[in-house]
Amino acid sequence: MYDIFEIRKDFPVLDNVIYLDSAATTQTPVQVVSAINDYFYKYSGSYGRGAHRLARESTNHYEDSREKVAGFLNVESSKTIMTKNATESINIVALGMGWNSGDHIVTTSLEHHSNLLPWMNLKDCGVDVTVVSPDDTGIVNPDDIYDSITERTRLVAVTHVSNIFGSVQDIKQITRISHKNGAMVLIDGAQSVGHFPVDVGSIGCDFFAASGHKGLLGPQGTGILYVKEPENLDPSYFGGGMVHSVTTSGFDIEPCPTKFESGTPNIPGVIGLGKGVEYVHDLGISNIEKHEKSLVKDMASKLSEMPYVEIYGPEDRSGVVPFNIAGLNSHDVAMILDETKGICVRSGHHCAMPALQALNVDGAVRASVGLYNTQEEIDTFIDAVSQITSLVG
Ligand SMILES: Cc1ncc(COP(=O)(O)O)c(C=O)c1O
Repeated sequence: MYDIFEIRKDFPVLDNVIYLDSAATTQTPVQVVSAINDYFYKYSGSYGRGAHRLARESTNHYEDSREKVAGFLNVESSKTIMTKNATESINIVALGMGWNSGDHIVTTSLEHHSNLLPWMNLKDCGVDVTVVSPDDTGIVNPDDIYDSITERTRLVAVTHVSNIFGSVQDIKQITRISHKNGAMVLIDGAQSVGHFPVDVGSIGCDFFAASGHKGLLGPQGTGILYVKEPENLDPSYFGGGMVHSVTTSGFDIEPCPTKFESGTPNIPGVIGLGKGVEYVHDLGISNIEKHEKSLVKDMASKLSEMPYVEIYGPEDRSGVVPFNIAGLNSHDVAMILDETKGICVRSGHHCAMPALQALNVDGAVRASVGLYNTQEEIDTFIDAVSQITSLVG
């Protein structure tokens, strides 16, 4: 049973604020913090490198977390790489695909900069990038992706859920179309995982990137990359831990995931992430989806009825509600909400400038929900916005 009052006991920080910025990063439950504490207090040791008991225990907990993450996404743990965030996950793909001049990538103007800049940066290597536009509500038409694919297209890189609009893309269809036309597919799942069921195995994409510190409740500094055919992706970082033999004339690299995890990883972070995944799993992802959808729907419908408020995105949205109040800067609105009611929302460009440029605005206020928000918090937020609009009128 989804008992919001019990859930809130696990997030003490929520006693002090109304946190509506979970799309940026989520609050961390005590279970995750205590798993991290256990690592430091009881068995802190290096990962994958030692014969002694602490190194073995750390390694076992780290690998157990990888199993949990992979199981949650329905993919093989041997193809699941632990990274520091979604941005690093995407860059590992961008740097590891071995591009040739004339290669072509299709992406969209909806993307977070983390799924746009790594591809734009390849222009210097002669890679062409086509940027497809969504409709006014932030939905990408798979036919537009299809029309942009050429015989040189090697990759289609698309977000699952827009961090600006909350629009959910038809990634199964995009993957099917792209594969049929010989292109690989990267899905940016930073805003989808942990908010509704995501079965990466059945989507069939070649790469799936996600943050650990958003819907999965892990600490900051954690991320995930799934790679369907890791033997075809080169590592970008070289050093300790990713090789099984080295001489002065060469070295042999370990298979995935080790080959992509050189250096000492974020051991406590990954262990905390495993606990976060367990927390989400135990609550039930469909229960979380139902709870968050109801809050978002209520918030969007009340905001859209307010004078001077313009909201963006489709009616059926996930997680976020972006809006502006006529004549007010989004940062000012965010500041007033914080100063008057302790409400934390995001403002500005949300690291997705092209998506906002298409709306002819340079910023927006974004209220986003997490599994721990209550209807009372949404009501307080709505009242607070309403009071701000009365100042405008
Ligand atoms: C859609 C999307 N992609 C990528 C990212 C980058 O995630 P991270 O901060 O984990 O690198 C974000 C962060 O907000 C996002 O919303």
